[in-house]
Amino acid sequence: MIPVNEPSIGERELEYVTECLRTGWVSSAGRFLEDFEQAWAAYCGMAYGVAVCNGTAALDVAVNCLSLGPGDEVIMPSFTIISCAQAVVRHGARPVLVDCDSETWCMDGEAVRAAVTPATKAIMVVHMYGHPVDMDQIQAITLDHHLTIIEDAAEAHGSEYKGRRCGGFGDVGIFSFYANKVVTTGEGGMLLTNDEGHAADARAYRNLCFRNDRRFYHTKLGHNYRMTNVQAAIGLGQLERVDEIVDHKRRMAAEYARRLADLAGLQLPSEREWARSNYWMYAVVVDEATGLTGETFSAQLKQRGVETRPFFLGMHEQPAFHRLGLFAGESYPVTERISRQGVYLPSGNALTALQVEEVCAAILEVIK
Ligand SMILES: Cc1ncc(COP(=O)(O)O)c(C=O)c1O
Repeated sequence: MIPVNEPSIGERELEYVTECLRTGWVSSAGRFLEDFEQAWAAYCGMAYGVAVCNGTAALDVAVNCLSLGPGDEVIMPSFTIISCAQAVVRHGARPVLVDCDSETWCMDGEAVRAAVTPATKAIMVVHMYGHPVDMDQIQAITLDHHLTIIEDAAEAHGSEYKGRRCGGFGDVGIFSFYANKVVTTGEGGMLLTNDEGHAADARAYRNLCFRNDRRFYHTKLGHNYRMTNVQAAIGLGQLERVDEIVDHKRRMAAEYARRLADLAGLQLPSEREWARSNYWMYAVVVDEATGLTGETFSAQLKQRGVETRPFFLGMHEQPAFHRLGLFAGESYPVTERISRQGVYLPSGNALTALQVEEVCAAILEVIK
Protein backbone atom coordinates (compact mmCIF):
# COMPACT_ATOMS: atom_id res chain seq x y z
CA MET A 1 0.00 0.00 0.00
CA ILE A 2 1.32 3.44 -0.85
CA PRO A 3 0.46 5.43 2.30
CA VAL A 4 -1.39 8.71 2.07
CA ASN A 5 1.12 10.18 4.46
CA GLU A 6 4.42 9.36 6.10
CA PRO A 7 6.50 11.77 8.14
CA SER A 8 10.22 11.91 7.52
CA ILE A 9 12.19 12.11 10.76
CA GLY A 10 15.86 12.93 10.38
CA GLU A 11 19.07 12.54 12.38
CA ARG A 12 18.78 16.04 13.86
CA GLU A 13 15.38 15.25 15.42
CA LEU A 14 16.89 12.09 16.91
CA GLU A 15 19.84 14.03 18.29
CA TYR A 16 17.63 16.72 19.89
CA VAL A 17 15.16 14.20 21.38
CA THR A 18 18.08 12.19 22.78
CA GLU A 19 19.32 15.36 24.47
CA CYS A 20 15.91 15.76 26.17
CA LEU A 21 15.94 12.17 27.38
CA ARG A 22 19.55 12.28 28.57
CA THR A 23 19.10 15.57 30.45
CA GLY A 24 15.65 14.81 31.85
CA TRP A 25 14.01 17.88 30.23
CA VAL A 26 11.02 15.91 29.03
CA SER A 27 8.11 18.04 30.21
CA SER A 28 6.81 21.50 29.35
CA ALA A 29 9.97 23.50 30.06
CA GLY A 30 13.34 23.40 28.38
CA ARG A 31 15.49 25.02 25.77
CA PHE A 32 13.85 23.38 22.76
CA LEU A 33 10.47 24.89 23.59
CA GLU A 34 11.79 28.42 23.64
CA ASP A 35 13.97 27.86 20.60
CA PHE A 36 11.15 26.29 18.61
CA GLU A 37 8.69 29.07 19.51
CA GLN A 38 11.14 31.76 18.52
CA ALA A 39 12.37 30.04 15.38
CA TRP A 40 8.87 29.23 14.11
CA ALA A 41 7.66 32.79 14.77
CA ALA A 42 10.71 34.18 12.94
CA TYR A 43 10.19 31.78 10.05
CA CYS A 44 6.65 33.16 9.62
CA GLY A 45 7.61 36.80 10.22
CA MET A 46 5.83 37.13 13.58
CA ALA A 47 7.17 38.40 16.89
CA TYR A 48 5.82 35.82 19.37
CA GLY A 49 5.18 32.07 19.28
CA VAL A 50 3.22 30.13 21.91
CA ALA A 51 3.52 26.36 21.53
CA VAL A 52 0.54 24.20 22.48
CA CYS A 53 -0.43 20.54 22.35
CA ASN A 54 -2.26 20.57 18.99
CA GLY A 55 -3.84 22.81 16.35
CA THR A 56 -7.34 22.42 17.77
CA ALA A 57 -6.09 23.81 21.09
CA ALA A 58 -4.32 26.64 19.23
CA LEU A 59 -7.66 27.66 17.69
CA ASP A 60 -9.28 27.69 21.12
CA VAL A 61 -6.42 29.85 22.42
CA ALA A 62 -6.79 32.16 19.41
CA VAL A 63 -10.51 32.74 19.96
CA ASN A 64 -9.80 33.37 23.64
CA CYS A 65 -7.05 35.92 22.83
CA LEU A 66 -9.44 37.95 20.71
CA SER A 67 -12.08 37.85 23.49
CA LEU A 68 -14.77 36.57 21.15
CA GLY A 69 -17.93 35.53 22.95
CA PRO A 70 -21.73 35.68 23.08
CA GLY A 71 -23.22 38.10 20.56
CA ASP A 72 -20.13 38.02 18.31
CA GLU A 73 -20.09 36.55 14.81
CA VAL A 74 -17.01 35.02 13.21
CA ILE A 75 -17.02 34.47 9.45
CA MET A 76 -15.32 31.27 8.34
CA PRO A 77 -15.39 28.74 5.52
CA SER A 78 -17.91 25.91 5.67
CA PHE A 79 -15.24 23.76 4.03
CA THR A 80 -12.79 23.16 6.86
CA ILE A 81 -12.07 20.93 9.83
CA ILE A 82 -14.50 20.97 12.76
CA SER A 83 -11.82 22.45 15.07
CA CYS A 84 -12.44 25.90 13.50
CA ALA A 85 -16.18 26.18 14.13
CA GLN A 86 -15.93 24.29 17.42
CA ALA A 87 -13.49 26.83 18.87
CA VAL A 88 -15.92 29.66 18.14
CA VAL A 89 -18.96 27.79 19.46
CA ARG A 90 -17.18 26.76 22.67
CA HIS A 91 -16.63 30.45 23.48
CA GLY A 92 -20.32 31.22 22.92
CA ALA A 93 -19.73 33.16 19.70
CA ARG A 94 -21.47 32.33 16.42
CA PRO A 95 -19.72 30.89 13.35
CA VAL A 96 -21.10 32.38 10.12
CA LEU A 97 -20.26 30.18 7.16
CA VAL A 98 -19.32 31.06 3.59
CA ASP A 99 -18.73 28.81 0.60
CA CYS A 100 -15.35 28.26 -1.02
CA ASP A 101 -13.87 28.99 -4.41
CA SER A 102 -14.27 26.06 -6.82
CA GLU A 103 -10.61 26.13 -7.88
CA THR A 104 -8.55 26.97 -4.79
CA TRP A 105 -11.10 25.46 -2.33
CA CYS A 106 -10.34 28.42 -0.05
CA MET A 107 -13.05 30.72 1.35
CA ASP A 108 -14.62 32.98 -1.27
CA GLY A 109 -13.69 36.63 -0.56
CA GLU A 110 -16.85 38.09 -2.12
CA ALA A 111 -18.98 35.78 0.02
CA VAL A 112 -17.05 36.96 3.09
CA ARG A 113 -17.85 40.61 2.31
CA ALA A 114 -21.52 39.77 1.81
CA ALA A 115 -21.65 37.95 5.17
CA VAL A 116 -20.50 40.92 7.29
CA THR A 117 -23.15 42.21 9.73
CA PRO A 118 -22.95 44.67 12.65
CA ALA A 119 -22.27 41.65 14.91
CA THR A 120 -19.23 40.47 12.92
CA LYS A 121 -16.05 40.71 15.00
CA ALA A 122 -13.55 38.47 13.21
CA ILE A 123 -12.77 36.49 10.08
CA MET A 124 -11.24 33.05 10.44
CA VAL A 125 -9.15 32.45 7.34
CA VAL A 126 -8.15 28.86 6.50
CA HIS A 127 -5.46 28.23 3.87
CA MET A 128 -6.82 25.05 2.34
CA TYR A 129 -4.55 22.12 1.55
CA GLY A 130 -1.65 24.57 1.51
CA HIS A 131 -3.08 27.08 -0.99
CA PRO A 132 -3.22 30.59 0.50
CA VAL A 133 -6.41 32.60 0.80
CA ASP A 134 -6.35 35.93 -1.10
CA MET A 135 -5.24 37.96 1.94
CA ASP A 136 -5.45 41.42 0.28
CA GLN A 137 -9.14 40.84 -0.28
CA ILE A 138 -9.66 39.73 3.34
CA GLN A 139 -7.56 42.53 4.79
CA ALA A 140 -9.56 45.12 2.79
CA ILE A 141 -12.76 43.80 4.42
CA THR A 142 -11.27 43.82 7.92
CA LEU A 143 -10.07 47.42 7.45
CA ASP A 144 -13.47 48.58 6.17
CA HIS A 145 -15.32 46.96 9.08
CA HIS A 146 -12.71 47.04 11.92
CA LEU A 147 -12.52 43.26 12.21
CA THR A 148 -9.75 40.99 13.47
CA ILE A 149 -8.26 37.99 11.67
CA ILE A 150 -7.60 34.50 12.98
CA GLU A 151 -5.37 32.88 10.39
CA ASP A 152 -5.47 29.09 10.36
CA ALA A 153 -2.26 28.04 8.64
CA ALA A 154 -2.38 24.49 10.03
CA GLU A 155 -1.90 23.09 6.53
CA ALA A 156 0.16 25.91 5.07
CA HIS A 157 3.66 25.64 6.56
CA GLY A 158 5.96 27.49 4.18
CA SER A 159 3.17 28.48 1.75
CA GLU A 160 3.42 32.06 0.54
CA TYR A 161 0.97 34.80 -0.38
CA LYS A 162 2.66 37.44 -2.56
CA GLY A 163 6.05 36.37 -1.21
CA ARG A 164 5.08 36.44 2.48
CA ARG A 165 4.71 33.25 4.48
CA CYS A 166 1.27 32.14 5.62
CA GLY A 167 0.67 32.34 9.35
CA GLY A 168 2.14 35.86 9.47
CA PHE A 169 -0.96 37.82 8.34
CA GLY A 170 -3.51 37.52 11.13
CA ASP A 171 -3.92 39.26 14.47
CA VAL A 172 -3.27 35.71 15.58
CA GLY A 173 -2.15 32.81 13.41
CA ILE A 174 -2.25 29.14 14.27
CA PHE A 175 -0.50 25.97 13.13
CA SER A 176 -0.87 22.23 13.66
CA PHE A 177 2.16 19.96 13.85
CA TYR A 178 0.22 16.69 13.63
CA ALA A 179 2.14 13.82 12.01
CA ASN A 180 0.72 14.48 8.55
CA LYS A 181 1.77 18.14 8.50
CA VAL A 182 4.78 19.53 6.59
CA VAL A 183 6.59 20.01 9.90
CA THR A 184 5.53 17.65 12.66
CA THR A 185 6.06 17.32 16.38
CA GLY A 186 3.95 14.13 16.53
CA GLU A 187 1.06 16.08 18.02
CA GLY A 188 1.46 19.81 18.48
CA GLY A 189 0.38 23.31 17.59
CA MET A 190 1.41 26.93 17.86
CA LEU A 191 -0.14 30.37 18.05
CA LEU A 192 1.73 33.31 16.50
CA THR A 193 1.11 37.00 17.04
CA ASN A 194 2.80 40.38 16.92
CA ASP A 195 0.78 41.54 19.93
CA GLU A 196 2.56 41.19 23.27
CA GLY A 197 -0.76 41.17 25.16
CA HIS A 198 -2.19 38.34 23.03
CA ALA A 199 1.03 36.37 23.55
CA ALA A 200 0.81 36.82 27.33
CA ASP A 201 -2.88 35.81 27.33
CA ALA A 202 -2.09 32.75 25.23
CA ARG A 203 0.75 31.69 27.55
CA ALA A 204 -1.54 32.00 30.58
CA TYR A 205 -4.52 30.25 28.95
CA ARG A 206 -2.44 27.24 27.81
CA ASN A 207 -1.18 26.85 31.38
CA LEU A 208 -4.37 26.89 33.50
CA CYS A 209 -4.08 30.68 33.94
CA PHE A 210 -1.51 30.30 36.69
CA ARG A 211 -0.40 33.72 37.94
CA ASN A 212 3.19 34.75 38.50
CA ASP A 213 2.40 36.69 41.70
CA ARG A 214 0.58 33.95 43.64
CA ARG A 215 0.87 30.23 42.91
CA PHE A 216 -2.42 28.28 42.81
CA TYR A 217 -4.50 31.47 42.90
CA HIS A 218 -6.57 31.80 39.73
CA THR A 219 -8.57 34.79 38.51
CA LYS A 220 -9.38 33.18 35.13
CA LEU A 221 -9.91 29.66 33.82
CA GLY A 222 -7.57 28.14 31.27
CA HIS A 223 -6.48 24.73 30.04
CA ASN A 224 -3.48 22.48 30.18
CA TYR A 225 -2.57 22.82 26.49
CA ARG A 226 1.20 22.69 27.04
CA MET A 227 3.64 21.24 24.50
CA THR A 228 6.55 19.18 25.82
CA ASN A 229 10.22 19.91 25.29
CA VAL A 230 10.47 16.53 23.53
CA GLN A 231 7.85 17.56 20.97
CA ALA A 232 9.55 20.91 20.49
CA ALA A 233 12.87 19.11 19.97
CA ILE A 234 11.34 17.17 17.07
CA GLY A 235 9.83 20.38 15.69
CA LEU A 236 13.09 22.29 15.84
CA GLY A 237 14.90 19.51 14.00
CA GLN A 238 12.14 19.48 11.37
CA LEU A 239 12.21 23.25 11.01
CA GLU A 240 15.88 23.11 10.02
CA ARG A 241 14.71 21.09 6.98
CA VAL A 242 11.45 22.88 6.19
CA ASP A 243 12.58 24.36 2.87
CA GLU A 244 13.77 20.95 1.75
CA ILE A 245 10.41 19.38 2.75
CA VAL A 246 8.38 22.07 0.94
CA ASP A 247 10.56 21.70 -2.17
CA HIS A 248 9.95 17.96 -2.08
CA LYS A 249 6.18 18.49 -1.82
CA ARG A 250 6.28 20.89 -4.76
CA ARG A 251 8.36 18.48 -6.86
CA MET A 252 5.94 15.63 -6.18
CA ALA A 253 2.98 17.93 -7.02
CA ALA A 254 4.64 18.85 -10.34
CA GLU A 255 5.13 15.14 -11.04
CA TYR A 256 1.44 14.42 -10.35
CA ALA A 257 0.40 17.37 -12.54
CA ARG A 258 2.65 16.25 -15.42
CA ARG A 259 1.14 12.76 -15.40
CA LEU A 260 -2.51 13.71 -14.79
CA ALA A 261 -2.90 17.04 -16.62
CA ASP A 262 -4.49 15.55 -19.73
CA LEU A 263 -6.87 13.26 -17.90
CA ALA A 264 -10.48 14.35 -18.39
CA GLY A 265 -12.66 13.85 -15.33
CA LEU A 266 -10.16 14.84 -12.65
CA GLN A 267 -9.73 18.37 -11.29
CA LEU A 268 -6.19 18.99 -10.07
CA PRO A 269 -5.11 21.58 -7.48
CA SER A 270 -4.61 25.08 -8.83
CA GLU A 271 -2.06 27.70 -7.87
CA ARG A 272 -3.00 31.35 -8.35
CA GLU A 273 -0.32 33.67 -9.76
CA TRP A 274 0.11 35.34 -6.35
CA ALA A 275 0.38 32.04 -4.50
CA ARG A 276 3.14 29.60 -3.69
CA SER A 277 1.44 26.51 -2.33
CA ASN A 278 3.25 23.96 -0.22
CA TYR A 279 0.97 21.30 -1.78
CA TRP A 280 0.54 19.90 1.70
CA MET A 281 -1.80 17.27 0.29
CA TYR A 282 -2.17 16.62 -3.41
CA ALA A 283 -5.94 16.96 -3.51
CA VAL A 284 -8.12 16.12 -6.52
CA VAL A 285 -11.84 16.30 -7.31
CA VAL A 286 -13.30 13.57 -9.50
CA ASP A 287 -15.97 14.61 -11.98
CA GLU A 288 -19.48 13.16 -11.57
CA ALA A 289 -19.43 12.38 -15.32
CA THR A 290 -16.97 9.55 -14.60
CA GLY A 291 -19.72 7.81 -12.65
CA LEU A 292 -17.48 7.88 -9.57
CA THR A 293 -17.82 9.58 -6.22
CA GLY A 294 -14.85 10.33 -3.99
CA GLU A 295 -15.76 7.24 -2.00
CA THR A 296 -15.94 4.81 -4.95
CA PHE A 297 -12.80 6.35 -6.49
CA SER A 298 -10.99 5.81 -3.17
CA ALA A 299 -12.22 2.22 -2.87
CA GLN A 300 -10.97 1.38 -6.36
CA LEU A 301 -7.60 2.96 -5.69
CA LYS A 302 -7.34 1.00 -2.46
CA GLN A 303 -7.83 -2.23 -4.39
CA ARG A 304 -4.81 -1.14 -6.45
CA GLY A 305 -2.65 -0.48 -3.38
CA VAL A 306 -3.15 3.29 -3.12
CA GLU A 307 -4.32 4.89 0.10
CA THR A 308 -6.34 8.12 -0.06
CA ARG A 309 -8.40 10.30 2.30
CA PRO A 310 -11.75 12.03 1.71
CA PHE A 311 -12.15 15.82 1.74
CA PHE A 312 -13.69 17.54 4.77
CA LEU A 313 -17.46 17.46 5.18
CA GLY A 314 -18.94 20.99 5.38
CA MET A 315 -19.66 22.47 8.80
CA HIS A 316 -23.30 23.00 7.76
CA GLU A 317 -23.68 19.23 7.27
CA GLN A 318 -22.50 18.32 10.78
CA PRO A 319 -25.19 16.88 13.08
CA ALA A 320 -23.14 18.08 16.07
CA PHE A 321 -23.94 21.68 15.04
CA HIS A 322 -27.53 20.99 14.00
CA ARG A 323 -28.13 19.79 17.55
CA LEU A 324 -27.02 23.23 18.74
CA GLY A 325 -29.48 24.87 16.36
CA LEU A 326 -26.77 26.01 13.96
CA PHE A 327 -26.74 26.11 10.13
CA ALA A 328 -30.21 24.58 9.71
CA GLY A 329 -31.27 24.69 6.05
CA GLU A 330 -28.01 26.32 4.92
CA SER A 331 -26.45 25.18 1.66
CA TYR A 332 -22.98 25.77 0.20
CA PRO A 333 -22.92 24.09 -3.22
CA VAL A 334 -19.16 24.12 -3.84
CA THR A 335 -18.44 22.71 -0.39
CA GLU A 336 -21.13 20.06 -0.86
CA ARG A 337 -19.80 19.00 -4.25
CA ILE A 338 -16.13 18.79 -3.35
CA SER A 339 -16.78 17.08 -0.04
CA ARG A 340 -18.46 14.27 -2.00
CA GLN A 341 -16.12 14.19 -4.99
CA GLY A 342 -12.76 15.11 -3.46
CA VAL A 343 -9.94 12.91 -2.18
CA TYR A 344 -6.33 13.52 -1.47
CA LEU A 345 -3.64 11.29 -2.89
CA PRO A 346 -0.44 10.00 -1.26
CA SER A 347 1.51 13.13 -0.40
CA GLY A 348 3.85 12.22 2.45
CA ASN A 349 7.26 13.69 3.03
CA ALA A 350 8.84 10.37 2.10
CA LEU A 351 6.86 9.90 -1.16
CA THR A 352 9.02 9.04 -4.19
CA ALA A 353 8.60 9.88 -7.89
CA LEU A 354 8.25 6.16 -8.55
CA GLN A 355 5.33 5.95 -6.11
CA VAL A 356 3.71 8.95 -7.83
CA GLU A 357 4.05 7.09 -11.14
CA GLU A 358 2.35 4.03 -9.60
CA VAL A 359 -0.47 6.13 -8.11
CA CYS A 360 -1.06 7.81 -11.47
CA ALA A 361 -1.10 4.47 -13.29
CA ALA A 362 -3.77 3.26 -10.84
CA ILE A 363 -5.79 6.47 -11.38
CA LEU A 364 -5.64 6.04 -15.18
CA GLU A 365 -6.97 2.49 -14.84
CA VAL A 366 -9.83 3.61 -12.58
CA ILE A 367 -10.90 6.64 -14.58
CA LYS A 368 -10.51 5.22 -18.07
C1 LIG B 1 -7.13 23.59 8.76
C2 LIG B 1 -6.90 22.87 10.06
N1 LIG B 1 -7.05 23.54 11.22
C3 LIG B 1 -6.87 22.95 12.41
C4 LIG B 1 -6.49 21.64 12.49
C5 LIG B 1 -6.37 20.99 13.85
O1 LIG B 1 -5.10 20.56 14.12
P1 LIG B 1 -4.81 19.32 15.12
O2 LIG B 1 -5.13 18.07 14.36
O3 LIG B 1 -3.36 19.45 15.43
O4 LIG B 1 -5.67 19.51 16.30
C6 LIG B 1 -6.30 20.90 11.33
C7 LIG B 1 -5.88 19.49 11.43
O5 LIG B 1 -5.45 18.83 10.57
C8 LIG B 1 -6.52 21.52 10.06
O6 LIG B 1 -6.38 20.85 8.92
